Amino acid sequence: METTTALSFKKQIKQGIPNELPSIKAYETTINHAPKRKEILSDEEKKLALQNALRYFKPEHHKVLAKEFLAELNDYGRIYMYRFRPDYEMKARPIKEYPGKCKQAKAIMLMIQNNLDYAVAQHPHELITYGGNGGVFSNWAQYLLTMKYLSEMTDKQTLVMYSGHPMGLFPSHKDAPRVVVTNGMMIPNYSKPDDYEKFNALGVTQYGQMTAGSYMYIGPQGIVHGTTITVLNAFRKIEKEPQGNLFVTSGLGGMSGAQPKAGNIAGCITVCAEVNPKITQVRLDQGWIDEKITDLDELVARVNQAKENKETVSIAYLGNIVDVWEKFDKEEVHIDLGSDQTSLHNPWAGGYYPADISFEDANEMMANEPELFKEKVQETLRRHAKAINKHTAKGTYFFDYGNAFLLEASRAGADVMSDNPTIGREFKYPSYVQDIMGPMCFDYGFGPFRWVCASGKPEDLAKTDAIACKVLEKLKKESPEEIQQQMTDNIQWIKGAQENKLVVGSQARILYADAEGRMKIAKAFNKAIKKGKIGTVVLGRDHHDVSGTDSPYRETSNIYDGSRFTADMAIHNVIGDSFRGATWVSIHNGGGVGWGEVINGGFGMVLDGSKDAGRRLESMLFWDVNNGIARRNWARNEGAIFAIERAMKSEPSLKVTVPNLVDNKLLANL
Ligand SMILES: NC(=O)c1ccc[n+]([C@@H]2O[C@H](COP(=O)([O-])OP(=O)(O)OC[C@H]3O[C@@H](n4cnc5c(N)ncnc54)[C@H](O)[C@@H]3O)[C@@H](O)[C@H]2O)c1
Repeated sequence: METTTALSFKKQIKQGIPNELPSIKAYETTINHAPKRKEILSDEEKKLALQNALRYFKPEHHKVLAKEFLAELNDYGRIYMYRFRPDYEMKARPIKEYPGKCKQAKAIMLMIQNNLDYAVAQHPHELITYGGNGGVFSNWAQYLLTMKYLSEMTDKQTLVMYSGHPMGLFPSHKDAPRVVVTNGMMIPNYSKPDDYEKFNALGVTQYGQMTAGSYMYIGPQGIVHGTTITVLNAFRKIEKEPQGNLFVTSGLGGMSGAQPKAGNIAGCITVCAEVNPKITQVRLDQGWIDEKITDLDELVARVNQAKENKETVSIAYLGNIVDVWEKFDKEEVHIDLGSDQTSLHNPWAGGYYPADISFEDANEMMANEPELFKEKVQETLRRHAKAINKHTAKGTYFFDYGNAFLLEASRAGADVMSDNPTIGREFKYPSYVQDIMGPMCFDYGFGPFRWVCASGKPEDLAKTDAIACKVLEKLKKESPEEIQQQMTDNIQWIKGAQENKLVVGSQARILYADAEGRMKIAKAFNKAIKKGKIGTVVLGRDHHDVSGTDSPYRETSNIYDGSRFTADMAIHNVIGDSFRGATWVSIHNGGGVGWGEVINGGFGMVLDGSKDAGRRLESMLFWDVNNGIARRNWARNEGAIFAIERAMKSEPSLKVTVPNLVDNKLLANL
């Protein structure tokens, strides 16, 4: 019998969970690992977690694996089943290299492997793609079994994924999604952060973040583009040029690491604090930060010099962000734009580090004295907000970057509440969606459309860039005044996209487009595939979009009719996408701002040049954007009322309920 390592890649995929136990794998210290998760299970519950894990394996292996899995649970707080990590390289391969009977399933395998690629994933051995806890799967058995199912499925079956666990292949039909993913769907009363810790440790749910658990992460490019758009528009909002002006923020992790790169593309001075030396070094080596400084006096001198010379420069401060805000206040360094991208959606498990404690000591405290750690985090948050308040009193424009900063700061008792709170205006400061992304992009239907060239060929990506650019330039000529800025920014982006060298992992591209732009670009791709000019293309988007996400303090924070605490839009979106032709759909609890705080969904769609693909793309993309515009319009958002009326003119079978606006004077006089 062949050993697992001697098997070809295709055979290993088709094998699934091997019959013989593979040899134990050493814990590789060169890899970035997830921190030890907090002890949450009782001894009895640990037995249940073991029972749950062992059901993937034949009873003859239980004795060996029970001991091993218990050790993983005790050492890391979770059962990852490290022994079953495959021996082949984890990366997106050209689609033709995947085994199987169905092109759509092969494309999904490619996307799953991309999410776990060492160059892409944050903690690849723990199957975490980004955000500290954004899992593709919870353990390696789930990965192996899912890949096996995908290699067997026909285009008349649907694979059902329950929070990382492949429940199985079910008969369906060719227009049905090939995969339906749910992540973290809880009964609402069991959706508190500790419920996540417990049920994830038991192996029955997982945190899919957004594009992690839905196989649609494309590395840092997506986030660099979104952050660039945000920084550019934030400077427009305060009516300042980026040149010579200062942006202060923190975090150099999975998404936050995009901030200095985006600052450089926008042309400002960026200071970004990061407590983790390993991560800071990675960003320096990668060229995403220009300089690293560890001394606060040196930082002040360097920033003053950069201001004087109107430099475009990004500086990492290795240390706590609170120290930067306090020092700049003391030294009168004026901050033009301020934000924060520590992972406050995950405050007690490594997302936010307290001040005045070394990084190593903080990690120990987190695992061994969680209550004290929580106190220290909250104390730091109060200090953090106090320092920000001093700067904003001097004219700094501060915005919440969708990381639950204001929410957690308020829970810590920090001075961040507005003097006159109303629904949607609870805090002193706006979120980036309230002031920037919502009114300037989402309400008009502009959001993070993306595609992956499944051939794996850079020349295919270059051809798709050229096609997309041509489509947008043509559309821009006929576009109304209201969306000209968005069109210009994205045409500029796509022209410079190759130069920015942002492709990591699969051959992927992102840009912001509205429904019309997305449909026309997709149609042009499908035509090029049919003519043999390019290979198969996978379309998708970030969940952080017009319609995909209900998140009251982020994506839907600029909804002011009270419906921001509902999740009807996201649920309708995923249902609507699934019967209009998506190749796979996903719906998640948690993501970005935290477990229990958001419901978000996404899709993937394979274009193969066929008529079926042409029909599906038109039907699904139109709905996927206009669902959210309709809801934003009903919430009385001006841009969305404009956009939905425009959409109804372009498609007569679209009939949306439009709100009647009430004269505020009438209400004031009641
Ligand atoms: N970039 C975006 O457009 C965007 C959009 C929405 C939300 N977010 C949110 O931003 C947050 C960050 O995401 P990520 O993927 O980068 O997470 P991450 O966990 O990979 O990175 C956060 C980084 O912050 C560092 N950090 C924590 N506390 C610190 C402190 N006090 N001082 C200095 N550094 C500190 C951590 O060491 C870590 O490297 C998440 O909550 C995410 O949801 C980002």
